[in-house]
Amino acid sequence: MRRVFPEGFVWGSATAAYQIEGAATEDGRGPSIWDTYSHTSGRTLNGDTGDVAADHYHRWAEDLGHVAGLGLGAYRFSISWPRVRPGGCGPVNRAGLDFYSRLVDGLLERGVRPVATLYHWDLPQELEDAGGWPTRDTALRFAEYAAEVVGALGDRVHTWTTFNEPWCSAYLGYGSGVHAPGRTEPAAALAAVHHLNLAHGLAGRVIRELAPAAELSVTLNLHVFRPASGSAADADAVRRVDALANRAFLGPMLDGAYPADLLADTATVTDWSFVRDGDERTAAAPLDVLGVNYYSTALVRAWDGVSARSDADGHGSSAHTPWVGAEDVDFLPQPGPHTAMGWNIEPAGLTELLLRLHREHPGLPLMVTENGAAFDDVVSPDGRVRDGRRVDYLHRHVDAVGAAMDAGADVRGYFVWSLLDNFEWGYGYDRRFGIIRVDYDTQQRTWKDSAHWYRALATTGRLEPPPSR
Ligand code: FCB
Repeated sequence: MRRVFPEGFVWGSATAAYQIEGAATEDGRGPSIWDTYSHTSGRTLNGDTGDVAADHYHRWAEDLGHVAGLGLGAYRFSISWPRVRPGGCGPVNRAGLDFYSRLVDGLLERGVRPVATLYHWDLPQELEDAGGWPTRDTALRFAEYAAEVVGALGDRVHTWTTFNEPWCSAYLGYGSGVHAPGRTEPAAALAAVHHLNLAHGLAGRVIRELAPAAELSVTLNLHVFRPASGSAADADAVRRVDALANRAFLGPMLDGAYPADLLADTATVTDWSFVRDGDERTAAAPLDVLGVNYYSTALVRAWDGVSARSDADGHGSSAHTPWVGAEDVDFLPQPGPHTAMGWNIEPAGLTELLLRLHREHPGLPLMVTENGAAFDDVVSPDGRVRDGRRVDYLHRHVDAVGAAMDAGADVRGYFVWSLLDNFEWGYGYDRRFGIIRVDYDTQQRTWKDSAHWYRALATTGRLEPPPSR
């Protein structure tokens, strides 16, 4: 029951700028789509915003102390585009770049590998006003921003990640509208998919040129779909959502082409004329490692047009769907246990996903760049947070990574989402994913039991049998 991970396997934790930094108007930072969205009435739970968040902008040194104290080999964070280029294009904000420069140096001093994401959803508002991701120009502006950041931080950053979960940016931002900028325009969502792919490729070239010693990656939230029955219709439902969620990114980024079935399935939504000659090849910037975020699975069926729909896709109660062109695919509720997000707990899905990638893209190293769980944590009178369910979740998923490696998958590391409790997008501060608790009144950090558990794993590379199973 004990698992020993290979020497060199990287244990890390992840965060994102808007979720932890706060200091939303300090030192020249401009507004992002998430500032606008969270300040719009009714968009986030309790009207929460990232104005203060976990105040990491001021407490970064203390937070890096926790990263080091946990014995982690790597820290994955994101860079706020509107902090570096407040208007999206135009002048660079030196103070913004300096913040990340200090952060990177702070990591290196502590012997922790910096893994930097260039875009974790905080598009400068001015670029959204000019059309946002459905507009080609945004991809070109992203490459310019990448050049500024990579030019400044270069290969002090070990791994450069262009995007975090472009699926969310495109389909939740422009399809269902449950993420910023909150638009509900199906054709725009698909145009956003393309311009995110293009921007990835353009920035990939910049990274190769300016930081040749650094690794290039992208992080995708690949979905694991299960059909509700063995019927041909349900198998086809899986094929269609797989094209939208997974192959719409894997196709151009890894194979240099969109899958034909995706273009055919969405032909009534768009003719894809925004794809220009050479774009797909550009998107296929050779990756050193593919980042995989995993939380749960999805159960789908073809809707017969008559029976009641479940629409249990867990992406909010919006009448608009992220599943552009696959509106007749129904998402079914899944048996528990569930996390506080209502997501089902299914570690086998992670093994399955890693093995699929290994099979379809042999030779491509993989990294689990996010995995974790929100639970309703309770602070005991003694101050301890006994988050046994989170420990159990993490334990079982780390074990699932080990199982994929046993079966041949080349997985190089694992990052817990998240280092700290933080602003969980539309759910505000209501959902806590941290292994370290943040008291939002005092900004005090407290290690939960899961942090102690993770430290033991990260410092030994040994997954011990779970305490309570
Ligand atoms: C992922 C996001 C991350 C966090 C987790 C729970 O989709 O990348 O920022 O919100 O989900």
